[in-house]
Amino acid sequence: MKMLKELLDSARKAREQAYCPYSRFPVGAALLTSDNEIFAGCNVENLSFGLTVCAERTALFSAVAAGKRQFSGMVLLTDTPEPVTPCGACRQALYEFSPNLWIVTANLHGQQRVYRLCQLLPDAFLAKI
Ligand code: THU
Repeated sequence: MKMLKELLDSARKAREQAYCPYSRFPVGAALLTSDNEIFAGCNVENLSFGLTVCAERTALFSAVAAGKRQFSGMVLLTDTPEPVTPCGACRQALYEFSPNLWIVTANLHGQQRVYRLCQLLPDAFLAKI
């Protein structure tokens, strides 16, 4: 529970850093590693719109760059009437590392929903190559 509050705080702070002049839809994410470190991320947009990176992947890539590869939970925070779930691309990117990841989606009104990543991305792409 204490960890959830920390994750929500990290996601809230990260959301304040979102670079989203085109959508004006700031998103914050906080990813918990299996050794209990938190990596936060925000969405980063670009004038070349397709280059935009979601908050979830910003957090994930930051954690991987720090040597982390196993994750136990993620908080996703938006200012929406209902909490939103991660986009398909982020689900796939996260699945590669932690299919059983807990995902808590939250909004600024304090509503929260809890999912497992494997529930949000059934039959995910996974192959031995
Ligand atoms: N976005 C995220 O950061 N995470 C999601 O799960 C969905 C969408 C961002 C991308 C873009 O900057 C803005 O929200 C609008 O789509």
